[in-house]
Amino acid sequence: MLVEENVSLAKLTTLKVGGLARYVCTVASVEDVIEAVTFAQDQALPFRILGGGSNVLAHDTGYAGVLIRMNIQGIRYEETSSGVLVHVGAGVAWDELVRAVAELSLWGLENLAGIPGTVGAAPVQNIGAYGAEISATFVTAQVVDTRTMETVMFQKEDCDFGYRDSVFKHNRNLIICSVTYLVSSEAKPQLGYSDVAQLVRDGVDMSTPSRIGAAVREVRAKKFPDMRVQGTAGSFFKNPIVSSDTFATLSSTYGAIPSFAAVGGIKIPLAFILDRILNLKGYTRGHVSLFGNQPLVIVVDAGATAHDVDVFAQEIEKKVFDTTGIAIEREVQAL
Ligand code: EPU
Repeated sequence: MLVEENVSLAKLTTLKVGGLARYVCTVASVEDVIEAVTFAQDQALPFRILGGGSNVLAHDTGYAGVLIRMNIQGIRYEETSSGVLVHVGAGVAWDELVRAVAELSLWGLENLAGIPGTVGAAPVQNIGAYGAEISATFVTAQVVDTRTMETVMFQKEDCDFGYRDSVFKHNRNLIICSVTYLVSSEAKPQLGYSDVAQLVRDGVDMSTPSRIGAAVREVRAKKFPDMRVQGTAGSFFKNPIVSSDTFATLSSTYGAIPSFAAVGGIKIPLAFILDRILNLKGYTRGHVSLFGNQPLVIVVDAGATAHDVDVFAQEIEKKVFDTTGIAIEREVQAL
């Protein structure tokens, strides 16, 4: 286990803001994870897990605890009668896994190409895009429960997967060390989501998982700022799920609003509200703005503080609430 002190959170997170983390422990095995948690407990410090740092808003005052930086590697395949099980270390970059699986002509992860972050972070918020969610291919996760320091296996039904939600999001004592997915050599293209369906209409070759992955990465490159260059965390907010009454009221006021059936109500794209109802595409305050191509995404210029980002997000939350009555939630997690 590698231990570093006073590490800049601006360097560890893709929003590129925030003060110093008191300790960062980089862990490469389950034993390292237990050692890092013990290290925190011995000093009565809190701990948090950090994957790719692409869904995290740090604080300008930093983090007065131990950040456990997940770096457990390895991808292993196991053929079974129901498909191919892929056992993956939590520190593997998500898109590296998507590429590796697609290159073997295995189906199931390709629509989730290009999503930043790590394999261990993916189930925490049940990542989803272009008509797919990882809960569909998830089989098990190997988890260290820091209350007992025991390693336990979580089956899919133990995970309470929902829209950008899981048991792991609400229980910080559960540390995912590896995840097993079930993928298939049988072609199972999912080409229904609007942007993907458009590619099909445009005649783009979508005949293999690798080709679909490449096409999805291209769509994403147009819709999202380049994280290597600009501060961003992808979608900053979740799409709201509203009741059918609220949806009917909004539709009678604003005309046709795109919608998706969701558990607990009707999911509406916040991008539509920000763009077509509030006219906020590209809205900027100082160093912080809503991205011009996709207003669900916040873009942060050099010079911004974490406080600036937080105040900006609060302003957007207020504007949405004042106009539509919807209390939106952040997808990005505060550190
Ligand atoms: N829209 C507008 N104006 C815009 C952009 C979008 O009106 O400028 C409307 C359109 O009606 C469009 C709809 O919003 O059809 C949905 O937009 P998009 O397909 O870009 O998806 P999204 O709902 O904004 C979600 C996920 C993304 C994921 C995309 C693609 C959330 C919070 N976000 O965004 O996930 O990549 O779908 O499937 O659910 C992430 O979670 O970080 C993330 C990037």
